[in-house]
Amino acid sequence: MHVLEELHGGDKPRAYAELESSLRALLSGEPDMVACAANMAALLFWSLPQLNWAGFYLVEPRSGDLVLGPFQGKPACVRIALGRGVCGTTAARRVTTVVANVHEFPGHIACDSASNSEIVVPMIVNEGPRKGSLLGVLDLDSPVLARFDELDREGLERVVEVLVSSTSWR
Ligand code: SME
Repeated sequence: MHVLEELHGGDKPRAYAELESSLRALLSGEPDMVACAANMAALLFWSLPQLNWAGFYLVEPRSGDLVLGPFQGKPACVRIALGRGVCGTTAARRVTTVVANVHEFPGHIACDSASNSEIVVPMIVNEGPRKGSLLGVLDLDSPVLARFDELDREGLERVVEVLVSSTSWR
């Protein structure tokens, strides 16, 4: 697997377009959510440069908490209450959060001391009987300050959409 932005000389839109088609191929024909989320975490972690963690926190319907899902990186905090940290704040607000410096984010949950910046994208069902339901969040962490920008937000929101619409969520 190659590092996409480096391959495309820092051309993020092109790198994300290639990432999206790789993801569609990887998920094709397989509706199982855990399998698809696991492969997507691996694809992101190994294709995007300067990451130290990539993975999912999924909503536990009984409690409403975010619970650790498939990921790549060091072992992480298992349960996050809605509204707590960057992930819980994103889940509560239902909009992507881009944090240039996690040490300045009130209530940031430090799982890996190497993390300095972060992007968290909400996963929301956009069609069918569960339309509008929050399934969880995608969380990417980087050791580099201000690693994520608007182009990352756009690209990652698109790949999250591919996952949400192509798998079955129970
Ligand atoms: N940083 C997150 C916690 C999860 S770890 O980074 C994997 C947060 O504050 O929500």
